[in-house]
Amino acid sequence: MRQTIAPVVAIDGPSGTGKGTLSQRLASLLGWHFLDSGVLYRLVGYLALKRGIAWTETDALGALAAALPVEFRTGVEEAEILLEGECVTGRVRDEIIGAAASQVAAVPAVRAALLARQHELRQPPGLIADGRDMGTVVFPDAGLKIFLTASPEIRAQRRYNQLKGKGIDVNLAPLLEDIRARDERDAQRAVAPLKPADDAIILDTTRLGIVEVEDLVMRLMHARGLA
Ligand code: C5P
Repeated sequence: MRQTIAPVVAIDGPSGTGKGTLSQRLASLLGWHFLDSGVLYRLVGYLALKRGIAWTETDALGALAAALPVEFRTGVEEAEILLEGECVTGRVRDEIIGAAASQVAAVPAVRAALLARQHELRQPPGLIADGRDMGTVVFPDAGLKIFLTASPEIRAQRRYNQLKGKGIDVNLAPLLEDIRARDERDAQRAVAPLKPADDAIILDTTRLGIVEVEDLVMRLMHARGLA
């Protein structure tokens, strides 16, 4: 019997474009699996900081990624993330961990080690994969590839509102600076740089709300017989 491979929708783009929210909404609407690939890089970054491993120690970083002691516990809302038994669900979202993630993400051994983990999540009925290289490297045969963009200013503003909403005291200027630095590092790295796949559909979300983006993507999925 021919085995059918589960469909994948790749949602790529820089942070603050609404990628995560869109991916989670689509996955829950369709009852599909959801891969937040950024969290894997964040966990490696977090552990590297915790263990005092420098960004130049590429072998040690690769080994860390290959043996990532993580457990995802599905809860009512967001899945709980346990790293070596410690709950790091909130902590991994910190700005400092995002910056660390972007450092370890430039290490080829780290990316290679995380590839198999990402492929494992491709299960029926389908997978919504959120990241930077879902359409280019991890799932090049995805049935639909979306690349979200938005101006750095609006992305910083969204992040600011998100953090303020959580009661975290932040300033807009350093957030914007961090976004620009991270974009630069993610786009310039030699391995799996942040760029749209040749067959990706690019959506600029600067002036679009989440519901409008979701409608657009759902229509594209229907058109391709994916939903
Ligand atoms: O999406 P998120 O902000 O959680 O990603 C954190 C960092 O992890 C990104 O800035 C990027 O450097 C890296 N990343 C990556 N490839 C992915 C997902 C995230 O390089 N597929």
